[in-house]
Amino acid sequence: MTIAEISLTKGETPLYRQLADVLAERIGSGELAPGERLPTHRALADAVGVTIGTVTRAYAEAERRGLVEARVGAGTYVRRPESPSWSFEQHDKNTRTLGYNIPPAIDRSEVLQRALQQLAGHGPTLNQLMLYQSPEGIGEHRHSLAGWLASLGVELDPEHLLFTSGAQHGVQLALQTLCRPGDNVLCERLTYPGLLSLARQQHLHARPVEMDEEGLLPEAVDAACRQHHPRLLYVTPTIQNPTTATMSDARRDALITVCREHGVLVLEDDVHGLLPRQHPAPLVNRDPEGVIHVGGLGKTLAPGLRLGYLQAPRVYREALVAGIQNHSWMISPLLTALAALLIEQGAADRLLQTVQSEMTARWERAAQCLSGYRLRFHPQGFHGWLELPDELPLSECLIQARARGLDVKSAELFTPPGYPAPPAIRIAASAPASVAELEQSLGLLREVLAGSGPRDAFTL
Ligand SMILES: Cc1ncc(COP(=O)(O)O)c(C=O)c1O
Repeated sequence: MTIAEISLTKGETPLYRQLADVLAERIGSGELAPGERLPTHRALADAVGVTIGTVTRAYAEAERRGLVEARVGAGTYVRRPESPSWSFEQHDKNTRTLGYNIPPAIDRSEVLQRALQQLAGHGPTLNQLMLYQSPEGIGEHRHSLAGWLASLGVELDPEHLLFTSGAQHGVQLALQTLCRPGDNVLCERLTYPGLLSLARQQHLHARPVEMDEEGLLPEAVDAACRQHHPRLLYVTPTIQNPTTATMSDARRDALITVCREHGVLVLEDDVHGLLPRQHPAPLVNRDPEGVIHVGGLGKTLAPGLRLGYLQAPRVYREALVAGIQNHSWMISPLLTALAALLIEQGAADRLLQTVQSEMTARWERAAQCLSGYRLRFHPQGFHGWLELPDELPLSECLIQARARGLDVKSAELFTPPGYPAPPAIRIAASAPASVAELEQSLGLLREVLAGSGPRDAFTL
């Protein structure tokens, strides 16, 4: 600090306060940098021509205002702005979680910092991003997304796709726009709870259709179309939630053929579609005018981005745009800009590869821990499906898991109302914070599974 330039005037405002104001001004302007050491009390007093007591009071006042900090024996320093340290507890500390189908905890800070710095460096762009935009989203951002998806084998039209606030919002938007209360919606025999919840809220009937290890059976879809005359079919063809079933190309073709025959729209939830290193082309590539395709960046880049996308047959586009406008006018342009930058900087590819490697390692470990049990998983998926040993009823498994503070998801959550739940649970190898925590959780799960045996005791 160039203390020589400080001049105070005798007047109404006490000298110490004038001095504190000067400090505030110079810290605010950046002339005094965070972390910089201020002159000693004596040096400042001599330079400004005030008493040491005045400087002591001025520093105390500056400290009271949060501008400086006095370190015992080391002097007075300009305070560094506190970096926010929000902490969001994912779960109770005493709970071991295998519950949520969330991406593994990976460090995204570096790529985010880079993208945010680039964004922050261009004022006119920032100003532009703070304005209302069309509900259709900014064209350049749509092109970045479509280009990236195309590199991964998903063919969407950049002029046609729409941004959503995550895949869940995409499903909601599609159901709300296309269905009327009382409509039948076909879904997999075990399905994503978010779909069941939306169906309940919108007074739709979720009609489950039988599946095998590849997912929906086309002949069962055919029969269900004849019986229920559904408005649409909701399906997750890749790493189905919860069973992990992934349809082969042949199964996808057969499903599209059946739906075309019945004139039934397909709502393709491809939220896990980009996770497998090798993935079959989505249904939308096969029939863009018969498929509403919903995807999201939550599972690949970051769930906190809250970004998804949707492409529907052209006749529905206007109604879907109106739907976005009704919900929230538009999806935040700041977020779509950030996603576009992550894609352009290659960070999206790197994050996806990191997630894939992390999950492959986790499932290798999980498969060892649960060897001998009927576990289905996809090496790059987040969740697995565990059929319980014959002697272990679902209710008992859940009681035993809870008693150990272990969170797993019961088959009941994935079963449409009025249908029986199979004795199985969903476990997410991605949910624990680390591989070490995953191993602890799996150890507890083994105890639960091994505890199964003949139960003679009974209770009233
Ligand atoms: C099948 C399915 N669809 C949609 C979603 C929601 O995804 P998003 O976080 O992008 O809203 C999930 C989340 O787990 C899911 O499993």
